[in-house]
Order: sequence, then C-alpha cells, then structure tokens
Amino acid sequence: MADENHSETDRDSLFRYEEPIFAREELLDIRHIPGPERIVGRDTHMQRVANAVNPAIFGRPPKHLLIYGKTGTGKSLVSRHVTERLAAEAAKDEVTVRTAFVDCGEENTETSAVKTIASQLNEPTETGISVPERGLATGDYYKRLWRILDARCDVALILLDEIDMLEDDEILRKLSRAGENNRVSRCSIGVIGISNKIDYPDQLTERVKSSFQHDEIVFKPYTADQLGDILDNRCDAFRPGVLGDDVIPLTSALAAQEHGDARKAIDILRNAGRIATEEELTEVVVGHVRKAKERTEANRFNEIVAGTPVQGKAILLALAMLTLVSDETEFSTKRVYDTYTSIVNEIGMDQLSERRVNEILQEQAFLNVINSTRTSRGRGRGVYSTHRLLEDADIVRKVITADDRFDEFDGVGA
Ligand SMILES: Nc1ncnc2c1ncn2[C@@H]1O[C@H](COP(=O)(O)OP(=O)(O)OP(=O)(O)O)[C@@H](O)[C@H]1O
Ligand SMILES: [Mg+2]
Repeated sequence: MADENHSETDRDSLFRYEEPIFAREELLDIRHIPGPERIVGRDTHMQRVANAVNPAIFGRPPKHLLIYGKTGTGKSLVSRHVTERLAAEAAKDEVTVRTAFVDCGEENTETSAVKTIASQLNEPTETGISVPERGLATGDYYKRLWRILDARCDVALILLDEIDMLEDDEILRKLSRAGENNRVSRCSIGVIGISNKIDYPDQLTERVKSSFQHDEIVFKPYTADQLGDILDNRCDAFRPGVLGDDVIPLTSALAAQEHGDARKAIDILRNAGRIATEEELTEVVVGHVRKAKERTEANRFNEIVAGTPVQGKAILLALAMLTLVSDETEFSTKRVYDTYTSIVNEIGMDQLSERRVNEILQEQAFLNVINSTRTSRGRGRGVYSTHRLLEDADIVRKVITADDRFDEFDGVGA
C-alpha cells in the first residue's frame, strides 16, 4: 500500500512513481484478452461463426467449422467470443452449451487433446468421473469424454486452435462420428478448427474428409484502417493527450504493410510508449513508432532464436550478411557455408561440416526463419538447396551480434 504521508523527498529515485505516458499499459499486453466492446472490424466474421453454431441454441448439432488466416487476424479472439455469447444465449432457454479450448501446439497428440477436452468439460463432483493426468489408454479417455458430454452438455463446442499442429486427424474423425456411432446419446458436438495454413484440409485423410463436413471462413489480414480502429479502441492505455496525432495512423500503416497482424500493431504501439517513457518524455511521437517497430521485430526474432545453439546463430548470421551485401535474396548451401566458415574462423569457433550446416539450415526452415528450396540439377545430377531469409536481415544481424559470443565479429564475414 502506498503511504500517503510519505513525502516526495523520501522516495528512492531509482524507482518511478509517476507514469507520464501510460494510464493502463496492461491493455496493450500480449496476453490481454480484449472484452467485447473492444473487438472491432470483425462483425461479418463474427456473424458467420455465429451462423455455423446457431443450431446449438436449440440444442441441435452445430455445423463444424474451419477458420483460416494469418497470425494476428483475430481468429482465436472471435471464436472464443462467439462461443461465450452462444453459451449465454442458449442458457436463457435452459440449453447447456459448453466449450472446450485446446491449444494443439501444446496438446499435439490425440491422447493429450482428448484428455484436455474431457477434463475441461468435466466436473467430478457432478459426474463422479475422474480424468487422470496419465495412465489411461486413448480409448479410455474417449469413453470418459462421451460419458461426461452426455452427463453435462446438450451441445459441446470443441475449439481446436492451431489444429495443423496435431500429429494426426484421428480426433476429428472420432468427434465428428460420435453421434452416428452412438458414442453420445444426448449431447451434440461441434468442432471449430483454427489454422494458419490455408491448405490444411488438403492434409486431411479421406476418411476424415468424408465424415468432417464443415463450413470454412477465411480471416484476411487487417487493413491499415481496421488496425487503426483496433488501436483507437485501446488508446485509453495512454494518458490523455499523450499520443501524437500521427502515431496510430503510422503504427497501423506499418503493421498493415507486412501481415496486417493486430498483435504486432498493438505491440509496436506499446513499445512506442515504452521508448517515450525511457526517454522521459510526456508525448509519444512518430519517431518512437519507427524505433518501436524495430524493437518489436528484434524482440520477436530474439524469442525465436533464444533456443538456437550458437552454431545455428552463426549460420543465420552468414545468411543475413550475404543478404545485406548482395542484391540477391537466395543463396546456395555452398555460399552460406563459405560465409559461415569465415565467421566461425573470425570469432574462433569450431567449424561444422557442410553437410551438418545444411541440416541446421533445414531445421531453421522448420522454424519459419528461412525458406529452403531444393532444385534438381537435371537428370542424374542430384539436387541442390537454396536458402532465403524470411526475417529482416539487418534485424537478424543486430540480434545475433548482440550475443557476447559474437563480440569478435566485425562484419568481414561476408
Ligand atoms: N478485431 C479485433 N479487435 C480488437 N483486437 C483485436 C482484433 N483482432 C485481434 N485483436 C488483438 O490481437 C490479438 C491477437 O488476435 P488473435 O489471438 O485472435 O489472433 P489469431 O488470428 O488467433 O493469431 P494466431 O494465428 O497467431 O493465433 C488479440 O489478443 C487482440 O488483442
Ligand atoms: Mg490464435
């Protein structure tokens, strides 16, 4: 508790008591889930999700749904929001709709996904059923799930977020066949699958394609105007009068230029405020936005490479240096390897074989940091790979060389 009798002069100047820039910074936190009054620009998408699940308010089976779109386009937000409103609406007529939410990036096996659904929808004191953390076979988790569903729900909506991360699509088949196979008698099940991959349905096995009849909705990247509305709706994160006129328009324009990613736009705005705070100013101006964009990208890239071993970093640095000094954007493994070799020699690090370097490049491709393409040299003459950096080369260089182990590097690598 703040001591009101504390005089100003008693304060330790190491800490800040006055927030000159932010009033409610938490509104711009990446983990903050905005309330309904702050969701803007997705009315038609919300309506289409609502249309698919509408039968649930009468206790009837909803349509299954697949939602696609790039990162930060509001897929998770809109799905959660509509399912919450649906449950509230259904409850008015004493229809029980419950939603399970599975992050398939975390729960990527069939067993862990079904276990998560069962435990989220269960209430052991009501059902007398337990869902143990481990020890049951997959089939037994399903059996408990079916009993829980019939005991507790008229309709269950299962949200499978990042659905393309699931090891296989078996769970889709079982959930979509549960009714016709009499696994459940009272409860109807609707699945909402969410994915970044527009071609996700192509991966589905034929058996699933036939049982999982669904609607599809695509969430396009936000336009600069829509991002502007989203940010305007959060501007009470700042103290009144702190935001310069052009700050939100520039932030939204920069974010729209790339992927129309609302998460990134919000992050840039927050970093702009933080930079202004660090500079001990009382206003956020466009210069802060430009710096903030770079900081946002660097932070993001930092998170991606945080777990990358130093050899991987040296390889990425090689690709970044090649990109910076030439007009080209794609480089053969050989060229990356030559630059990598001079970098490791310069900083006194062990040198890996070209074959190992190529393997590490493939791993980075998996993390979406680079894009690798294999091209045939013609019949019987083998294949070669080329690699292209997907991140901004300058940011990659800055982030990697900030690592102390690259202190000796002064750019001659390329
Ligand atoms: N229409 C919107 N109105 C207000 N805020 C939004 C809107 N869309 C997205 N946001 C903000 O952006 C964040 C990211 O949105 P969301 O999590 O729905 O993205 P996503 O499409 O699921 O992305 P990913 O594919 O990365 O999971 C939300 O938490 C929210 O703060
Ligand atoms: Mg999401």
